[in-house]
Amino acid sequence: MVAKIAVIYYSTYGHVRTLAEAMAEEARTHGAEVDLLQIPEILSDEIRGKMHAAPRADHPEIKPQDLTKYSGFLFGFPTRYGRAPAAVSAFFDATGGLWASGALVGKLGGIFTSTASQHGGQESTALTTIPFMAHHGIIYVPIGFAAPELSDNGEIVGGSAYGAAGIAGGDGSRAISAKELNVARYQAKFFTQTVATFEAGKEKTA
Ligand SMILES: Cc1cc2nc3c(=O)[nH]c(=O)nc-3n(C[C@H](O)[C@H](O)[C@H](O)COP(=O)(O)O)c2cc1C
Repeated sequence: MVAKIAVIYYSTYGHVRTLAEAMAEEARTHGAEVDLLQIPEILSDEIRGKMHAAPRADHPEIKPQDLTKYSGFLFGFPTRYGRAPAAVSAFFDATGGLWASGALVGKLGGIFTSTASQHGGQESTALTTIPFMAHHGIIYVPIGFAAPELSDNGEIVGGSAYGAAGIAGGDGSRAISAKELNVARYQAKFFTQTVATFEAGKEKTA
């Protein structure tokens, strides 16, 4: 059973993009068919310039209807005041038709993020995204503490039981660390195996 997974991300300065690319690669290593997609931007070039945003990557942009093609989604986006950026909310708002028809019921979802600081809202960003999944009937897959890096207090490591995360620094100068990448790869592997197991079970019980 091949898990069909979309890694769907939004990134202004590149940290979440780095996590997303690593997760897509890792999911493929574990046998998933993976598309790496971006959430469309809603900010003007002028605003992005004032924010010193990095150039947009050339990954294709996701459209709401595309979600129906996958068994699982890994959603990644940086925190804005402890929750999702407006572009991500706008994308979620555009899925109303899918909600009305129950098109995403029984699919699986995971969340990863990035914050400026250690206590900037990684967990609240995941927690405030779970209602989107709940309303669609998307089964949320957390990662627990199985990745040993999450219990490492020897250095700053982003991530939580809710999903992988980077810590970018207030000026964005801190790159995603090797340990944060390990957590991201763990999440991609665990999510891929969960989706594949779920799909295989569905076939057996149909
Ligand atoms: C409007 C705005 C609000 C933000 N709010 C928070 C926040 O609540 N907590 C935090 O730690 N970082 C906050 N940040 C920093 C971003 O989370 C940080 O730039 C991001 O993690 C970098 O990820 P990216 O490189 O993928 O864009 C905010 C940034 C902006 C522009």
